[in-house]
Amino acid sequence: MLSKSIEKALNDQIRIEAESSQIYLAMACWAEVKGLEGVAGFMYDQSNEERDHMLKLVKFVNERGGHAHISELKAPNVTFESFKEMFEKLFEHEVFVSESINNLVHITLQEKDYATHNFLQWYVSEQIEEEAMARTILDKINLIGNDKGGLYLFDRDIVNLTVNSASMDNRE
Ligand SMILES: [Fe+2]
Ligand SMILES: [Fe+2]
Repeated sequence: MLSKSIEKALNDQIRIEAESSQIYLAMACWAEVKGLEGVAGFMYDQSNEERDHMLKLVKFVNERGGHAHISELKAPNVTFESFKEMFEKLFEHEVFVSESINNLVHITLQEKDYATHNFLQWYVSEQIEEEAMARTILDKINLIGNDKGGLYLFDRDIVNLTVNSASMDNRE
């Protein structure tokens, strides 16, 4: 059984994961209209993954005697100055999500809710992977700078990153 405060904290995280999915969907659209299909495909996949993160929480809350709250979402940014800015935003957002997961874990320990604490460990590992991936992408984008040819190759190569992150998911 979930306490009211844990239920509320989990519901807050449900909203954050749903907003993450929308943020990345908007990035996918922006990349697609800019003609970078590799980046767009990668961001569509990221958006789907965030929806999965949300669903996993929704089902957990409902199973544990709570009621998952499906709420209104903040509208995401739909345009960016550059791909560099877009990936900086992605990285910053993942860091923000990690902090939010850490706070959630902290609350479960305070309340001695070890079932929820155990459930959240998956999110802790997932955030390590997602931050690492965002950092890798940002490093590559910084190397490319304003080089159009570099961006073309990056768009082609990011497809492999999609494959890797998909195979990570299969391991679960
Ligand atoms: Fe997530
Ligand atoms: Fe994420």
